[in-house]
Amino acid sequence: METFIKEEEKYIKNKLEELGYKVKEVTLNVSSRPELGDYQYNGVMGLAKEYHKNPREIAEELVKTIKKDDRYKNIDLAGPGFINITFSDKQLIDFMNVLNNNIDINYKTDNPKSIFLDYGGANVAKALHVGHLRSANIGEALKRLATALGNKTMADTHLGDWGRPIGLVMTEIKHRFPELPYFDENYEGEYPKESPVTNDDLMEIYPLASIKAKEDEAYMEEAREITSKFQKYDRGLTALWNHIMTVSKADIKRIYDRLNVTFETWEGESDCYKYIPETIEYLEKEGFVEDSQGAKIISVSEPDDDHEVPPVLLIKSNGSASYESTDIAGLWERMHLFNPDEVWYLTDARQNLHFEQVFRAVYKTGIVPKSTNLEFIPFGTMNGKDGKPFKTRDGGVMSLENLLDMAKVECEKKILPNITGEEREKVANIVSIAVVKYADLLPYRLTDYVFDPVKFSDLQGKTGPYLLYSTIRIKSLLKKAQDEKIEYNEVKMISDPTQRNIMIGLLNINNVLINSYKSRSLNDICEYLYKITNIYNNFYYQNRILTEEDQNTRESWLTISKIVYDNNCKLLNILGIEIPERM
Ligand code: ARG
Repeated sequence: METFIKEEEKYIKNKLEELGYKVKEVTLNVSSRPELGDYQYNGVMGLAKEYHKNPREIAEELVKTIKKDDRYKNIDLAGPGFINITFSDKQLIDFMNVLNNNIDINYKTDNPKSIFLDYGGANVAKALHVGHLRSANIGEALKRLATALGNKTMADTHLGDWGRPIGLVMTEIKHRFPELPYFDENYEGEYPKESPVTNDDLMEIYPLASIKAKEDEAYMEEAREITSKFQKYDRGLTALWNHIMTVSKADIKRIYDRLNVTFETWEGESDCYKYIPETIEYLEKEGFVEDSQGAKIISVSEPDDDHEVPPVLLIKSNGSASYESTDIAGLWERMHLFNPDEVWYLTDARQNLHFEQVFRAVYKTGIVPKSTNLEFIPFGTMNGKDGKPFKTRDGGVMSLENLLDMAKVECEKKILPNITGEEREKVANIVSIAVVKYADLLPYRLTDYVFDPVKFSDLQGKTGPYLLYSTIRIKSLLKKAQDEKIEYNEVKMISDPTQRNIMIGLLNINNVLINSYKSRSLNDICEYLYKITNIYNNFYYQNRILTEEDQNTRESWLTISKIVYDNNCKLLNILGIEIPERM
């Protein structure tokens, strides 16, 4: 079954065609002036241009034929050619009851795809930082949205586990513990089962090694050698690499878990690396590779480029593979193993050129067919109050964990005093994730925003806690009805203008989901959740739902409450936000 609004859009499209106007698509929008109608159709303006007619003329024709059908309570023309539609109560009530029986009716897209998403990008042996937050939040929510709409999805962490940072960490470990067998080329015995370092050690070692390498060329050279040695699968360094991986991955996983971020596969650059030889062999055989001062490159510029797109450096002159080649080999692997219709990459906007080069290279060489949509989905940065990327007090990089803890401290202050002990801890965690996620997903994806833990954890306003608090309250209303054995099965009547507004809002879910899906940005869903929750809360304050004496009214109100509740749960889940029992 089609969604209600889709049916109406189709109906209007047919009417326009009967009148001789060809239209690709008719879109109905919730009216910005409810006193004029429930929904608005603004497409006549475009048609008028196309047919060189006065928009009012077309609009009048359309309104006249529709009026004959007596389909709506009211259909009217306003301004230069806007058409306002007011649905009949019966139409609205019927659709609410369909929705009550099948909330999923709004969750689908016309053309489902298989989508592979890449939104992890955490770097092994380095702390997850604020920069990884948006990629994880937006990526996870887009995956959940795409899945909810009926697409097949799969996500990979794509850990940064094969580059210089690991070489630097190994160099520092070697300086501290030169006697460890991992560094002894003549060692043939078994390597220790225990890791020589903990995650806390790694958190201290990497920043230090990175500073040392900047100040001391010899140290840097040593790190380069170690990097190239482990990338050639040196036996001892591989054993050490495995320890570092195990320790660090466990910690990365812990933080992604805390954020409700999940991946179907936990691969990394090291896994792509395995496919580099066969990828290069193919590229050389097909004649795509050029030599440039000892390096292997693929040129990807095009005659009508309006900015410089440098060639892709596949293999550096020292024989090591580049970040570009891991992504090219990664696509080689993904196409061979999964052959998805689309691949989506989420990193901040600074990696734009990187992905432009990679995409051009794989399309040009046929590693990825043109029919597969490769998409780079960049996002703006999360800033501090000074408008610059969020930092610690002393100007350092803020770890993601510290940021989450900051939000948690604020949430703790606002939770009910009678929630104590373990439960308090758990609730504070859940709410703090709602704080961070909602704030992160609310602005349009490419917009920067300022992180303000106090404002974002407020129980009032456009915040995660406001949505949670309100949703929990609907749940307890429904629970009370159940405890008091009050039955409610359907909407029977519309007895209150606010009730009507909620119903109008509920009709619009599919549009909101599709807009978010198309823009690859969750802001529409976030705004919608706030709006519908807000209207519902007004309704809740205006009426005494449980003690309403008229049974039909009470039943209708409870049914509407249940639909709002179910729908809020579904949308919060798409955003990756959990709902606590109480807060
Ligand atoms: N590890 C990278 C970073 O921290 C992000 C990886 C993004 N994904 C990719 N396939 N290149 O910048």
